[in-house]
Amino acid sequence: MIRTLAFILLTLSSAAVPTAETAAAQRPAEHPFETPDFSRNAFGNPFPKLNRDERREFFVGNSFFKLAWVQTGATTTARDGLGPTFNAVSCSGCHLLDGRGMGAAREGHAHVSLLFRLDGAEEQYGSQLNPFAVASVSGEAQPFIKFETESGVFPDGEAYELRRPIFNLINWMFGEPPKNTRVSARVANQLIGLGLLEDIPAAEIEAMADPEDKDQDGISGRPAYVLDLRTGAMVLGRFGWKAEQPTVEQQNAAAFNGDMGLTSALFPNENCPSVQLACQAAPKGNAIEVDDHILSRVTMYMRSLAVPVRRKLPDDNGQKTFTRIGCANCHRPGYTLDGVAVFPYTDLLLHDMGPGLADKSVGGDLLATEWRTPPLWGVGLIQTVNNHQNLMHDGRARGVQEAILWHDGESARAKNAYLQLNKAERQGLIDFVNSL
Ligand code: HEC
Ligand code: HEC
Repeated sequence: MIRTLAFILLTLSSAAVPTAETAAAQRPAEHPFETPDFSRNAFGNPFPKLNRDERREFFVGNSFFKLAWVQTGATTTARDGLGPTFNAVSCSGCHLLDGRGMGAAREGHAHVSLLFRLDGAEEQYGSQLNPFAVASVSGEAQPFIKFETESGVFPDGEAYELRRPIFNLINWMFGEPPKNTRVSARVANQLIGLGLLEDIPAAEIEAMADPEDKDQDGISGRPAYVLDLRTGAMVLGRFGWKAEQPTVEQQNAAAFNGDMGLTSALFPNENCPSVQLACQAAPKGNAIEVDDHILSRVTMYMRSLAVPVRRKLPDDNGQKTFTRIGCANCHRPGYTLDGVAVFPYTDLLLHDMGPGLADKSVGGDLLATEWRTPPLWGVGLIQTVNNHQNLMHDGRARGVQEAILWHDGESARAKNAYLQLNKAERQGLIDFVNSL
């Protein structure tokens, strides 16, 4: 274990660290959190403010993020413990280049970056579908996608088409789950600026909530409150598409456990429901497969990914439209952290986004319509980094316009105002979002 770590450190100090430091040296007056890198690696840079030691820690975290874990019993012990059941073998397998997963990109077997949370089938399947497993154990079920298309026309005659994904989970290994089990599809997010989102004071988020819509703008918004496993307190949820995790560390430990079957101090139990006998019997790694050292490095890495600088536009018409038609009421532009302005374009609150985006039960009923306002920073660079711009929680929207057209519920007013814009105004708004 220690030998492997030393090896990783050595490899890193000879390659990755100096390159990043050289790049940093060429930019004297830097923003502490922003990077001017718009290349394929736009989401993979450390905060410029990191010092030499922090940078080293960042790159160690990066190596664990990219590491392919293996099942217990293989020769190496430093990176074993995968499974018994899992979704992918590395963090970067879903968050490719720290970016956005493919999601519901095409019909057929779902891409690994799209995972399915289950609520109501804990005894058989736990709280997340794990399609894969180590040798001698079988995956839990297989997710497939089909699309239904819906078309519409703007008042100026331009046509649009939306594709609604229909998820079909088949080959349930331990029997059909109860019909009222909720299935929630989620795609892997881009991971920039998370340390900044973590640092926004909870009171500032809570002050924007308006659960009874007292100001009658059609938008309520409520904070999610979730259990902080370190403190045992209920605190503001910030991460994931439904703000179900309070801290970057807990989100990471949950990912190690839920997505790869790796235990840690925060999640010490393997995800093997008692009916899954082969899973129960499979050889396990150490009691704690991801020790605090690894978890803290990965957390440091996740907290320190820089945000690409905004790209310049010829005019600010798009920005004005964004504010005028109400987008900024949820996608709140800025916050000040320690005297530095940052622009994530989110209120981190949960909003009812209407039935079209709602989770469904296995039996087909509409459930849970609330989603966290996602930050919009980096959205325009997903195309560059990940070769697609599949947006929204399951990746159904092909680009910014389709994402807007799926807005409903509390965001119906803003969507309807978008439908009334002329072509130039629509394009201006899309260009603005893509510049963030
Ligand atoms: C199987 C694909 C998959 C793997 C593997 C995976 N993730 Fe994720 N990740 C996701 C999905 C999907 C979400 C959104 C989860 C949700 O909304 O509940 C997510 C969300 C996150 C977030 C929150 C981002 C935000 O904007 O709120 C962080 C941080 C994160 N993952 C880190 C990791 C780390 C660290 C690892 C490796 C230990 C990892 N992920 C492994 C798919 C994956
Ligand atoms: C009521 C709050 C609200 C308003 C108003 C609103 N949004 Fe959103 N927006 C959300 C939520 C919540 C999501 C995530 C929904 C989902 O994934 O199902 C979202 C998703 C998005 C996405 C996709 C982001 C991603 O990472 O995939 C874009 C782009 C976007 N909104 C732009 C806009 C624009 C432009 C407007 C104005 C026309 C707008 N939004 C108005 C709450 C809002």
